[in-house]
Amino acid sequence: MSAPSPPVGRPSSSGPRAAITTVGHFLPEERLTNADLEKMVDTSDEWIRTRTGITERRILRDETKATSDMAAGAAQEVLEKRGIDADDLDAIIVATVTPDMLFPATACLVQDKIGASNAWGFDLSAACSGFLFALTTGSQLIESGRYEKVLVIGADKMSSIVDYTDRTTCILFGDAAAGVLLEPHDEYGLIDAVQHVDGGHGDLLCMKGGGSLNPPTHATVDAKMHYIYQDGRPVFRHAVTAMADVCEEVMERNNLTGDDVDYLVPHQANLRIIDATAKRMGLTSEKVMINIDRYGNTTAATIPLCLYDWEDELSEGDNVVLTAFGGGFTWGASYLTWAYGE
Ligand code: ACO
Repeated sequence: MSAPSPPVGRPSSSGPRAAITTVGHFLPEERLTNADLEKMVDTSDEWIRTRTGITERRILRDETKATSDMAAGAAQEVLEKRGIDADDLDAIIVATVTPDMLFPATACLVQDKIGASNAWGFDLSAACSGFLFALTTGSQLIESGRYEKVLVIGADKMSSIVDYTDRTTCILFGDAAAGVLLEPHDEYGLIDAVQHVDGGHGDLLCMKGGGSLNPPTHATVDAKMHYIYQDGRPVFRHAVTAMADVCEEVMERNNLTGDDVDYLVPHQANLRIIDATAKRMGLTSEKVMINIDRYGNTTAATIPLCLYDWEDELSEGDNVVLTAFGGGFTWGASYLTWAYGE
């Protein structure tokens, strides 16, 4: 564990915080259940539920649709709920490992699809930690005082890089997008964030083909290098330790006990990882957002999708801790105070 970095948030007296003011989402209609997977690979509903907590996931079956379409759907919902025009957006950040194509960035495609004529934007690649890293980045844009409406979206069409003959990965992932609007707030918003990367373990969870090292050829496709590869057991071990450690780090830095935390929003990769993290933080189960049973691991979308599902339960001033671990390795935890709700 490296030495703690200084908090990114600043006291509210010295400038605005970046607060989440709206949440939106997009889920494909089609469900891929454990029973469906039993017919595709040598697995069982019982194994999947007990080892991961997943019952079903959503799949974007329409081959003419991609990550940008889901992200644009989530963006549209944010705009409608907030009652603003696309032209009001200053920036769009899309966290994804399944961009429509290497370039243009998915953020550019979303900008065009929703007609956000005044926004600039970019993609951020940090696998399952993508949304968390994008939230920190977007918050800095708000805290700089230069931008007032920043859209941060996590979106992944994981079905486009999953090998549906590999039982160790195909049971885990689903497709979704969800996003938040960040705006300046005098009182509530992002207070602290800790991020880590450790590239030394990149080979345990990766997609080897399609980039400049292994450009697509018949040989890379034959070797299935265009699919996600994961060595699950060591990734699991690292995830359990890293997520609990980084949450503890954020709690210590902000003098929070388990009683002070109203909600934990963990990345949804495996229910056992979530349970271990919550236990180390001293949280009771009703404080932990869990929807992995319904959607599986949607990579960059899991955290905002949880916020969407729990939006009605959240109240102004709630202390919320978000945490993720993913390929890279990448991991982190953020502490924010919720800005709206009864
Ligand atoms: N159905 C039935 N049996 C299976 C399946 C399956 N779908 N998959 C694996 N098995 C078997 C294995 O072959 C193995 O059999 P063996 O003992 O005869 O060799 C046995 O089940 C146990 O396999 P493990 O890999 O040890 O299973 P584990 O309990 O570790 O669960 C899992 C696997 C779910 C992948 C887990 O390791 C995990 O969650 N890892 C971390 C995932 C994660 O957090 N990833 C980071 C985020 S993802 C991102 O960034 C894109």
